Amino acid sequence: MRIQIITLFPEMFSGVLGSSMLWKAADRGIVSYEFINLRDFGLGPRQQVDDTPYGGGDGMLLKPEPVVAAIEHAKERNPEAIVLLPTPRGKVYKQSDAKRLAATEQDLILVCPRYEGYDERITNWVDEQFCIGNYVLTGGELPAMIVIDSVVRLLPGVLGGETSVEVESFQDDDVSIEYPQYTRPEDFRGMNVPEVLLNGHHGEIAKWRREQ
Ligand code: ADE
Repeated sequence: MRIQIITLFPEMFSGVLGSSMLWKAADRGIVSYEFINLRDFGLGPRQQVDDTPYGGGDGMLLKPEPVVAAIEHAKERNPEAIVLLPTPRGKVYKQSDAKRLAATEQDLILVCPRYEGYDERITNWVDEQFCIGNYVLTGGELPAMIVIDSVVRLLPGVLGGETSVEVESFQDDDVSIEYPQYTRPEDFRGMNVPEVLLNGHHGEIAKWRREQ
């Protein structure tokens, strides 16, 4: 899966994409991350990407020309890729979306807005708008990283055991269905591991986990 990221702050991604499973997935050739700096598509000698809102109001908005030029650039390199836009006004992003995006294995283009928002006309170049929760962030980079993390871990060959993907929380967008887990020591500061997990009876363990 090829993931192109349009952002003014590519450096924000290095810790997340350069560590642990997301790094390993790239190292194994399962995914590639490519950055497109929105500033490169800015207008005029100062490579302007933002402007004041028509009708007044606080803050600056991303201008449509640089954003659309950056999307078109990404699309030229990868015409079939799905264009995703993080925005508090989008539909809430769920595990079923991660599963769908991982299952299609279609390449992705993530557009990361900044400032107080963007000119609404850019949404004509976007396939899906999504919100990661009912709070407002300073930009689309963190939501983009959340989508990348949740999709890449589901790609074949990224996680070790397939069961860790199958038996996990939020499987059906419902409440958490993952059971509590324990490792050594058996007694930690007087708190003991549930007896049922220690007796090696697989039927009883499975029943207990279902109940939990
Ligand atoms: N941009 C700012 N806040 C956001 C949120 N909660 N979800 C997606 N994009 C955002």
